Amino acid sequence: MRLPVAAAGVILAGTFALAAPAQAEGNLVVYCSPQEEWCQLMVNEFQKATGINVSMTRKSSGETFAQIKAEAANPKGDIWWGGTGDPHLQAAEEDLTLAYESPMLKDLNDWAVSQHKLAGGKTVGIYMGALGFGYSADVLKEKGVEGPKCWADLVKPEYKGEVQVANPNSSGTSYTFLATMVQILGEEEAFAYLKKLNENINQYTKSGAAPAQAASRGETLIGITFQHDLVSTAVASGAPMVVVAPCEGTGFEVGSMSIIKGAPNLENAKKWYDWALTPEAQALAAQANSYQLPSNKNAPVSEHSPKISEIKLIDYDFAKFGSSDERKRLLSRWDKEIGAAQ
Ligand code: G6P
Repeated sequence: MRLPVAAAGVILAGTFALAAPAQAEGNLVVYCSPQEEWCQLMVNEFQKATGINVSMTRKSSGETFAQIKAEAANPKGDIWWGGTGDPHLQAAEEDLTLAYESPMLKDLNDWAVSQHKLAGGKTVGIYMGALGFGYSADVLKEKGVEGPKCWADLVKPEYKGEVQVANPNSSGTSYTFLATMVQILGEEEAFAYLKKLNENINQYTKSGAAPAQAASRGETLIGITFQHDLVSTAVASGAPMVVVAPCEGTGFEVGSMSIIKGAPNLENAKKWYDWALTPEAQALAAQANSYQLPSNKNAPVSEHSPKISEIKLIDYDFAKFGSSDERKRLLSRWDKEIGAAQ
């Protein structure tokens, strides 16, 4: 049946209306700290859903914090999406980010809302993940050594030059590792451990997840990363990655999101914020090979996500380790005692 001309016209106008808002709805600048693939998918889907034109930069958590601080007098970014919670808390304390009460807060898990409360509303949890380490079963076999099970195992002489982790200045993952060891061992013992571990480290990378990828390629035996990054690497590369939840217990991140104070596109930043907390947006993670636990209670949890209930988690003190003084102090001690010794 041929459509009457008027009806065809309506359909055309409808199609045009869907495609056009990319020009009409303005811009948004996103600073993104999770894996690039996930950042890109979020941006594409948000642009499709809203017509807002997004420009995105991926940088590690510590680097993004430093950039937002450096730009504070003349902010260029609107929203910081993802990355570990501690530097988001530090940004809140240093008044670099803005309080916002999203209508989505009621649908979030307690661990996500508690970051919001801790920061006076200036940040919120978007995902959670436990720290650990891993190795490829193939590489382990080639090396002819036993697989490590505990944090304490990583300093054994048989792993000399075989451990990789990021630099805690640039990487939130690595700062989580530093803060975790301080919480498990006490500060003096933790630094003694890190000094000993330094003898086994082959490289301090810039980004937190890089050691998982290096381990899958056999460039290092052991990579210290979030456990979900080891799973992503296994899924992407097909390498037989063994994901270890360390026997002593381990720390975790509450991956967070904050609106930047002075955001040039504040209304669009709020739109991203509300959208990023929906189950639909959070379900995109698995499509981008990311397996953190989502903060929205109604978002699906991937079968690949590490089972948090089966992992011995420490009671990570976000108030302390996300505070500006403590993070600065621990990083400068790390620089002096570990970084300088490389
Ligand atoms: C990876 C993880 C994220 C984490 C991020 C932190 O992308 O999948 O869960 O938030 O690392 O990145 P960074 O490079 O700061 O350690």
